[in-house]
Amino acid sequence: MSTADVTVYGIVGSLRERSWNRMLLESAARLAPEGVTVTISELVGRLPLFNEDLLGREPEAVTRMRAEVAAADALMIATPEYNGGVPGVLKNAFDWISLPLGASVLQGKPVALIGTSPGRLGTARCQFELRNMFVFSQSPVMPGPEVVMPFAHECFDESGHLKDPVATERLGVLFGKLRAHVAASRLEAAVR
Ligand SMILES: Cc1cc2nc3c(=O)[nH]c(=O)nc-3n(C[C@H](O)[C@H](O)[C@H](O)COP(=O)(O)O)c2cc1C
Repeated sequence: MSTADVTVYGIVGSLRERSWNRMLLESAARLAPEGVTVTISELVGRLPLFNEDLLGREPEAVTRMRAEVAAADALMIATPEYNGGVPGVLKNAFDWISLPLGASVLQGKPVALIGTSPGRLGTARCQFELRNMFVFSQSPVMPGPEVVMPFAHECFDESGHLKDPVATERLGVLFGKLRAHVAASRLEAAVR
């Protein structure tokens, strides 16, 4: 591994076994440029429902997810939208790991948003909400290109690999932006 390498922690906002968004994130992991590694989290579905009473004695899955996020240079979130908003399981995960407020593992962590849905808006509303949510942890969300893919059922081949050329190209540019952001942050930290 070189010092220029970038690790990306992938989070899927759907627990469905045949999730289009999991397929999208798995495709993104395969398409990631050399030097960028995407690891997909398996913890989202194992977190208990957020409860402030549990703070200070969090279940192990929460501690592990915090550690995995902390160890990564960036996040990539692939999520559907439910009722025009962020899926409960995803919001639950971020409520846990957003603490302690102001000093969480999300603080300043760069984020790339991607998503697909069988409908016409391709998760645009959810991504809009997520951008707003990351204001709280001051996590810079890549401004673009937007990877918002409608008609999910037309975007993958029989093996679940992304076949949409526009989305594929956009993913490439998005990875480039994420890598440039991480490199700039490292340079800034080095001269500080
Ligand atoms: C409760 C519920 C609400 C949904 N709301 C939306 C929605 O607001 N917008 C949308 O595009 N699709 C919506 N869908 C359809 C999902 O996009 C679809 O089930 C999708 O396949 C879920 O993502 P996944 O394939 O990654 O699991 C909804 C589905 C459910 C079950």
